[in-house]
Amino acid sequence: MNTKVRKAVIPAAGLGTRVLPASKAMPKEMLPIVDKPAIQYIVEEAVASGITDILIITNRGKGDIENHFDRVPELEERLLAAGRQDAYDQVVNLTRMANICFVRQKETKGLGHAVNCARSFVGNEPFAILFGDDVILGEKPVTAQLCEAYEKYGLGVVGTKDVPPATAMRGSSLKLEAIPGEDNVFKCTDLVEKVKRPEDLLSNFTILGRCVCPPEIFDILDHTAPGVGNEIQLTDALAVLAKTKGLTAVDFIGKRYDMGNKFGILQATVDVALRHPEVQEEFKQYIKEIAASL
Ligand code: UTP
Repeated sequence: MNTKVRKAVIPAAGLGTRVLPASKAMPKEMLPIVDKPAIQYIVEEAVASGITDILIITNRGKGDIENHFDRVPELEERLLAAGRQDAYDQVVNLTRMANICFVRQKETKGLGHAVNCARSFVGNEPFAILFGDDVILGEKPVTAQLCEAYEKYGLGVVGTKDVPPATAMRGSSLKLEAIPGEDNVFKCTDLVEKVKRPEDLLSNFTILGRCVCPPEIFDILDHTAPGVGNEIQLTDALAVLAKTKGLTAVDFIGKRYDMGNKFGILQATVDVALRHPEVQEEFKQYIKEIAASL
């Protein structure tokens, strides 16, 4: 069995209705966190986890994402002529990080439907899924944490954290069982998407933006009927995987920012700015002044 994960799929074809009007003409995945668009952090995480081939699922309105990972010869020449080698390196290197390709999800039929657009790219091997609006920062890339669990158990993996019940109700809720000898890796035996009542939650653990799937997920997705919101839900397909081949869950280490949500964008901006060598001192001062006046 091939357990080395070298491909990743980034679904980025959602409509982003929670961050309108910012996402009306610009993909929400291109919203900047200080000086890089959200999707660049996600691609960097995949690359730092050993991923070499990335498929970004886009739609009609998301051409800016393709442009971001493309070369811009006029700009590069101008930067070189001006002696701005660092800026040149930044704009060129980000186009060379991985083999990045794109496919369009032609209708917005849900995350499961978007992932199913990756079948021919993935072929018969395991692959990581990184949601295009979930930026996760930490010392060890989260995708690498999930790939380790995949390589150890040979089963699909979801990245999870314990969240407040109201948050779990807005996403997936996981039924978990301990695995002897493991601290943060669990057996996941069931999942349910967006429950209506708190008592229907399987637990407060929810999927936060990362999974690793075996290729069998595609056959399951082919037979997954539309679920919540009349969309084909990845959660429903993962529930079938959990009950057949098996699924694990990693309570990952890292801080997740929901870039599909106004507050998440603000949190990411503040946290990254406070660590950014170019602006951190000035920004810290500014935050202190603001905080003093609150
Ligand atoms: P969301 O649930 O955040 O949906 O999708 P959304 O449409 O992007 O945003 P809102 O809720 O309207 O504000 C989770 C992930 O699944 C992708 C999104 O791009 C995001 O990365 N997605 C969702 C697709 O690629 N296609 C879809 O049909 C739905």
